[in-house]
Amino acid sequence: MRKHWFLSAFVLCAMGCAACSTNSDTLNVEADLSYCDTQVRRTLDELRSANGGQIDYTMSPRNILQGEHHWNLRKVDKTEWCGGFFPGVLWYDYMATGDSVILQEAENFTEPLAFLAETPAYDHDLGFLVITSFLNGYRVTGSEHYKQVLLAAADTLATLYNPKAGTILSWPRHVSDYGGHNTIMDNMINLELLFWAAQNGGDDSLRQIAINHANTTMLNHFRPDYSGYHVAVYDTLDGHFLYACTHQGLNDDSMWARGQAWAIYGYTMVYRFTHDQKYLDFAQKVTDTYLDRLPEDGIPFWDFNDPRIPTSGKELTPSETVAPRDASAACAIASALYELADYVPAGKSERYRAAADKTLLTLQGDAWRGGASCPAFLLHSTGHHPAGSEIDAAISYADYYYIEALLKSQGKMKSAVQPEVLAKQ
Ligand code: GLY
Repeated sequence: MRKHWFLSAFVLCAMGCAACSTNSDTLNVEADLSYCDTQVRRTLDELRSANGGQIDYTMSPRNILQGEHHWNLRKVDKTEWCGGFFPGVLWYDYMATGDSVILQEAENFTEPLAFLAETPAYDHDLGFLVITSFLNGYRVTGSEHYKQVLLAAADTLATLYNPKAGTILSWPRHVSDYGGHNTIMDNMINLELLFWAAQNGGDDSLRQIAINHANTTMLNHFRPDYSGYHVAVYDTLDGHFLYACTHQGLNDDSMWARGQAWAIYGYTMVYRFTHDQKYLDFAQKVTDTYLDRLPEDGIPFWDFNDPRIPTSGKELTPSETVAPRDASAACAIASALYELADYVPAGKSERYRAAADKTLLTLQGDAWRGGASCPAFLLHSTGHHPAGSEIDAAISYADYYYIEALLKSQGKMKSAVQPEVLAKQ
């Protein structure tokens, strides 16, 4: 009898523990947003105390490398592609908290980027710089000044368009290195600025440039399995496609995780603005090839073809893996998947939402978080592996897409990222 009681108690206890762990395996977006807010305030405090009590708003958090505990800052400049991500994090934190202190800091960090709109285009990253900062700021405030900056920036970005090639030149400084007009997958993200501008008082040609860029990229930038190349090169004079290769991936034939992220996010966004089924079909194809090869925990290795990726099927923590992960790609894709899930039929929708949820669930784990050790939301992103730069680091754009994904998971970004959808309601 006594033995029986002990056994029952043991079974009950085991069930209780299982419930506990199921509970802790549940996505808790409110808690995650609150964690982000804590880290944002910590960053602001650290920036203030490191600069004699006053934040220098021309210096933007960029990364925290392995073994470091504080943000490395970069001067806001046309050559620093990440300058908009921290202002963007602040706009999102404001959307989450409604705190006027955060709003003020978002404005403070956004304004130093304004000069970029009138500066001759250095490269396509102008889009990243102003979408993350001014476009989010405009969505929150409706500021006429922000709108004018965005319209000017769209015109500046459009100066890089080559009508013969049908795409924007991504890196003017690398034309001779590549032997032609180079276009990188990342450039898909920047089409949002052109679509938005055409809808908000800018010239109609901006929309056509964005559509042409998306169509040409669809033709030349993908392998038959819909994995993307990083770079496509076109003849500068007559625009014909020359070849495709990599810059930040493992090799010319590999699937670089963040390149695929830009493709997934990019075609989902192009569908948002065009409602053209061919982009929705394509977005699903580039997504499915990624999800089919994604590790169980929802976080890709930096490049899907890195031979150091373990094949055992054993669950590994980030520190046990030899090939570094890329949390930034995971976050950009999670953000895109919440939107894509709204556009596709039920079965597909569930798959995409579940994949995004799984990614965010994994990123709730201590192994992935800056937590007490540093003020970044997340660790374990990879910037430019072939250059040996920002490998397995905390990087500002991972945090940006993380908090964006959290907001989108709750439908809190509807008005922000889906203006056309909102306008139709
Ligand atoms: N746009 C540069 C990168 O994704 O690293």
